[in-house]
Amino acid sequence: MERIVVAPEDRVFVLTGAGISAESGLPTFRAEDGLWAGYRVEDVCTPEAWRRDPAGVWAFYSARREAGWKAEPNPAHHALAELEAELVERFFLCTQNVDDLHERAGSKRLLHMHGELAKSRCEDECGREPVEDRAIHSNLSAVAQCACGGRLRPHIVFFGEIPLEMDRIQDEIAKATMMVVIGTSGNVYPAANFVHWARQHGSRTVYVGPERPLNAQAFDEVVLGKAGEVLPGLFRVELGSRAAR
Ligand SMILES: NC(=O)c1ccc[n+]([C@@H]2O[C@H](COP(=O)([O-])OP(=O)(O)OC[C@H]3O[C@@H](n4cnc5c(N)ncnc54)[C@H](O)[C@@H]3O)[C@@H](O)[C@H]2O)c1
Ligand SMILES: [Zn+2]
Repeated sequence: MERIVVAPEDRVFVLTGAGISAESGLPTFRAEDGLWAGYRVEDVCTPEAWRRDPAGVWAFYSARREAGWKAEPNPAHHALAELEAELVERFFLCTQNVDDLHERAGSKRLLHMHGELAKSRCEDECGREPVEDRAIHSNLSAVAQCACGGRLRPHIVFFGEIPLEMDRIQDEIAKATMMVVIGTSGNVYPAANFVHWARQHGSRTVYVGPERPLNAQAFDEVVLGKAGEVLPGLFRVELGSRAAR
């Protein structure tokens, strides 16, 4: 396999999706039966679902929390943390995943655009920040309240809600010279558009995953394979002239 050379002037923006956590045992969203861990997304992951059945939503995300805490980062998560250690501020990682496997592998310049399993926030949007919350809720009465009296909801971007920190993401894409997209099917927006934004800025674009994504035609290179097998050793970071001397 040909290695991808990261030159001293390059800045790398990485977007990951459910596929990077697949080898850690966490199911991706669009399995063949169209269900996600046995659920229909619209029953557990929309503002309507939360209004209609908050107990059901908490049961679903409690199960995701339990599975998430048990899972371990795989070689793909570690490879990205190692790439960041070499590139430091020339690296930025945006994940659609709500698990914490990237940070547990050591990633630091990391943004969770679809929220985080390990946090909860006020359902009334009273302005208070999300809080760390690893609780497993078996019923609604166990769910803590916000200081304003509102009920806490998972800090997850439901379908139909706007992803987090889009301005920062757009800035980082604009600064980058290379976009690497890993393990995402390319059918959830706006994330599926990032590759197009990167191209508009003249970036080189690379996809890594076992099958071609829906937006495959927008990539300069598609590297077919499992992330945990492909990513370790995929990048070769060239030293800058100062560091090389
Ligand atoms: N808010 C929610 O709770 C919720 C629910 C469903 C989807 N979503 C969001 O939609 C986003 C988009 O979904 P997605 O594209 O991440 O997931 P997806 O399930 O649509 O796609 C998974 C991708 O991973 C690839 N893959 C499978 N095994 C792999 C491996 N070992 N290595 C690399 N790639 C592998 C598959 O080929 C597929 O393209 C999700 O990340 C999620 O944030 C959110
Ligand atoms: Zn509140």
